[in-house]
Amino acid sequence: MPRSDPARSLPAWYFSEYAPVGIDLGSRAAVAAYDRNQGTDPLADDALLDRLGVTDGTRLIDLACGTGSLTVQAARRGAVAHGVDVSAEMLAFAKARADRFDVAPQWHHAGFLDYTHQGPLADVVTTKSALHQLPDFWKQQALVNAAEMLRAGGFFYLWDVIFSFEASSAETHLRDWIAAAGRPDGEGFTRTDFETHVREEFSTYAWIVEGMLRRAGFDIVSRAFPRPTHAEFCCRRR
Ligand SMILES: C[S@@+](CC[C@H](N)C(=O)[O-])C[C@H]1O[C@@H](n2cnc3c(N)ncnc32)[C@H](O)[C@@H]1O
Repeated sequence: MPRSDPARSLPAWYFSEYAPVGIDLGSRAAVAAYDRNQGTDPLADDALLDRLGVTDGTRLIDLACGTGSLTVQAARRGAVAHGVDVSAEMLAFAKARADRFDVAPQWHHAGFLDYTHQGPLADVVTTKSALHQLPDFWKQQALVNAAEMLRAGGFFYLWDVIFSFEASSAETHLRDWIAAAGRPDGEGFTRTDFETHVREEFSTYAWIVEGMLRRAGFDIVSRAFPRPTHAEFCCRRR
C-alpha cells in the first residue's frame, strides 16, 4: 500500500501527519486492542451507513479508517469503498478484516492532508474519531481536501471529540468525561489515555468546527451533541 502520492514534495513547514500525537494507536499491540477499547460495533456502522444512504454502488471514502469496520461494512453492501489511514498497522488489520468477509475495499496509506482521490468523485465521505489529530489550521485544510473529493450534493459525516460546553465550565466537563470514560488497564482506554487526549491532541470547540465546515464548502444538515465532549455533523457539499 504505497502512500497516495510519494512523489509530492512537501515544504519544511508542512504538518507531519504520519506521526500522530497523543495516545499510541499505531503500534501492533495498540491496533490489536483498538476495537475492544473503542467499542467498534459493525451494527453501529451499518446504522450510520443506512442514515447516509450508502447502498450498492455508492462511492464512499472513510478518512482515518483505523481498523476498517465502517469501510468493510460499506463494501459488504456493495459500495465502492476506500479506507484511508496514515498507519500501515491499522491498514493491515483493516485489510485482514476485509479478507475475512471476502470484500476488497481500496486501502490507501495516506492522510487527511495528502490523500489525493483518483477517479470519480465520492458520494459520501466520512471521518470518525480522528480529525482532532490535526491542529485547527490543518483541520481546515483537511476539510477543504475532503470537500474536493466529494461531488456536489454528496454527504460529509464527521464524528469526533468536539466540545460544546462553555469555556468557563471546561474544567468541570473535562474532569467528568475523563472520570466516566476511563477504564481499568486491559479493559479499554484508560483515564491516562483520556488525559493524554486533552493535553496533547487537538480537540476543539463545536463553534470553531462549524465555521470550518462552512468555509470548506459544506452546508450543515444536522448536528448532534450527545455529550458535551462529543459531536456529530452531517453535511452536504455545496
Ligand atoms: C481513534 S482512531 C479512529 C479510527 C476509526 N475512524 C474509528 O472510528 O474507529 C484514529 C485513526 O486516525 C488515524 N490518523 C491519525 N492521523 C491521521 C491523519 N492525519 N490522516 C489520516 N489518518 C490519521 C490513526 O492512524 C487512527 O487509525
